[in-house]
Amino acid sequence: MPTADHVKALVRSHAEGDDTRFYSIALQVAARAARSGQSRFAQELRDLVDELRKVEGRKAIAPGRPVPVAKPRGELADLLSISYPGTRMADLVLEDSVREQLLRVIAEQRQQDRLQEQGFHPLRRVLLLGPPGTGKTMSAKALAGELRLPLFIIRLDGIITKFMGETAAKLRLVFDALIETRGVYLFDEVDALGGERARSNDVGEIRRVLNSFLQFLEQDEPESLLIAATNHPELLDQAMFRRFDAVIEYPLPSPELTRSVIRNRLANVSVSRLAWKRIDEAAAGLSHAEITLAAERAAKDTILVGNEKVTTGVLIEALNERHARGHR
Ligand SMILES: Nc1ncnc2c1ncn2[C@@H]1O[C@H](COP(=O)(O)OP(=O)(O)O)[C@@H](O)[C@H]1O
Ligand SMILES: [Mg+2]
Repeated sequence: MPTADHVKALVRSHAEGDDTRFYSIALQVAARAARSGQSRFAQELRDLVDELRKVEGRKAIAPGRPVPVAKPRGELADLLSISYPGTRMADLVLEDSVREQLLRVIAEQRQQDRLQEQGFHPLRRVLLLGPPGTGKTMSAKALAGELRLPLFIIRLDGIITKFMGETAAKLRLVFDALIETRGVYLFDEVDALGGERARSNDVGEIRRVLNSFLQFLEQDEPESLLIAATNHPELLDQAMFRRFDAVIEYPLPSPELTRSVIRNRLANVSVSRLAWKRIDEAAAGLSHAEITLAAERAAKDTILVGNEKVTTGVLIEALNERHARGHR
């Protein structure tokens, strides 16, 4: 059951209209219930929060401005995907510095009217760098979720491979559609436009695509949030770096964050007292995504063999298996 502090915090966040905090407290209550064996209540509460977030997301989008590419049709459908993520900042396990930078982006976006009245532009072009599985895509989802905006994902490498020869023209189509619609735009794998690849591509197509992307970045479309992400920052053109208002680096998780990732993923199941030191060692070098998968694997193994609690041994085995896969 929720503690008195939880109830007070719920009421306070409701009074302040702070939905993010409200739902995050509700999820804490659910995690606590799960730990004390009330897994049914915990699941129901989680489902309820998910459902309400979705409804709220739709409510926020429905009135006001129409979203013309809400269901991209024809050619556009091949070029980008759109979703209305329910992801929130509280779902992410991040270094404080990374979290602060994302919160700053949210604050400037939320108060862009006030900033613009005084002649300031909100942060709106953000570059996310870091190894795979550290939460870059998830951050774009959380920004869209917090700002209640649609998320458009454009996979540049996919477009380039698919439309070899006419990529630049296709991309213009995307940009034109996007300029009309407020949203969060994630250009994933922007290293596909990297200097190296541009130089080795003889038709000069990648160079043309890069140029039209750079022009797009310059356009005055202050209402939307533009995010680019890459696992290979060393491949990016310097011209690209200069166009962004903020560059956020995603490191692999520290031992402390590793523990949070595991705790979050196992919040629903019984866990025996864990030997964290040994787990930290086994998890070193793995990404958030890999640790999440290992925790899932350990929980499932526990259920399949009919054991009650997830143990240190099962977790370490699953983490080791992740390492083995990575190095194959
Ligand atoms: N920082 C994080 N906090 C919580 N979960 C994470 C984090 N990073 C990755 N994950 C987990 O791994 C999955 C894949 O992460 P993703 O955001 O796609 O990584 P990236 O885009 O950096 O390669 C997520 O859906 C989530 O389950
Ligand atoms: Mg990604």
